[in-house]
Amino acid sequence: MYRRIIQPLLFALPIERAHRIVLLALRIVGMIPGGRWLLGQCFAVRHPALEREVFGRRFPNPVGLAAGFDRNGEAFRELSALGFGFVEIGTVTPRPQPGNPRPRIFRLPKDNAIVNRTGLPNSGLERTIQHLRRPHDGLLVGCNIGRNTATPPEEAPADYLKLFRNLYQYADYFTVNINCDNAADCSAYSRERILSILEPLFDFRHGQQQYRPVMLKISPDLSDEAIDTVTDVLISTPLDGIVAADGSYRRDGLHTSRTTLDKIGNGRLSGAPLADRTVEIVRRIHTRSGGTYPIIGVGGAMTPEQVRALLDAGADLVQLYSGFVYEGPRLVRDICRALIADAERPA
Ligand SMILES: Cc1cc2nc3c(=O)[nH]c(=O)nc-3n(C[C@H](O)[C@H](O)[C@H](O)COP(=O)(O)O)c2cc1C
Repeated sequence: MYRRIIQPLLFALPIERAHRIVLLALRIVGMIPGGRWLLGQCFAVRHPALEREVFGRRFPNPVGLAAGFDRNGEAFRELSALGFGFVEIGTVTPRPQPGNPRPRIFRLPKDNAIVNRTGLPNSGLERTIQHLRRPHDGLLVGCNIGRNTATPPEEAPADYLKLFRNLYQYADYFTVNINCDNAADCSAYSRERILSILEPLFDFRHGQQQYRPVMLKISPDLSDEAIDTVTDVLISTPLDGIVAADGSYRRDGLHTSRTTLDKIGNGRLSGAPLADRTVEIVRRIHTRSGGTYPIIGVGGAMTPEQVRALLDAGADLVQLYSGFVYEGPRLVRDICRALIADAERPA
């Protein structure tokens, strides 16, 4: 039904409006008594073979919703009811910010892809806390945190620490989003820069009774050497794992015409074109880190086979964004069913 009816209706609208409508509709369903239960009955697949134990948490299935969809944590309970094993909210910044001028998100239907240069619009820390105060009922929520655009890079660690301290009790894990603003300049990933952001978080966590895993989200445009640098940070510090990866600034091998791409302009590319590189990155991190650290694979997972490829490469969990936009909640269900079938196939 999503592909035949809902998706054409949503795709007739500008993508940000369609996105708002979906979030609003989910929240309305969530307000109706039994609404979330009904969503769960329609979409969620439960099976012991889907469960995963990752960083001390039990996930009902390994398929999560990637950051950027529920930026303010307003519909995490309804999105979980659609069958996701976990929802990563954010990117949250300390102060609200409007992001870049619109239009700033574009569909590339010929490539099953999306380009965005949103500039991390979000309602800020206070508002997000209000949303996250709603009962979690055992649902798993990750918080993706970033600095305000107006914060100079040298003051970034204070932004991350403020978010971490204030959201600590509301999240099951954190993802640190250190932006590199274009493919050529990924200096944000130097060991010193990463540690200047992470160490205050580790110090704060040290004094807490509850342990909250900290993941680092990387760009798929990093060179193999830079990926190794990040992996070595993972091995040699209390960093818990890596989220690989964000959207890409590259445009290789797309079916969308050059004219359309020029009209759209710059931004991060998400969706099907990322699939192969994401698998390569996950495999590289997994191999170098000896397979002992959690990896969340994200980028280009549009089919159960692509999710399987990420898991086979060493991902413990996967996330979807573009796949959810193009295929709807059915994709999560299809992936879960495929994973159950794999588990039940005689060896
Ligand atoms: C419109 C849009 C907004 C996004 N916003 C964020 C964000 O705020 N923070 C973040 O870490 N990633 C963000 N992402 C990146 C996704 O979380 C994901 O890493 C990326 O889209 C690759 O996954 P996909 O190929 O399944 O879409 C965004 C992606 C899209 C398409």
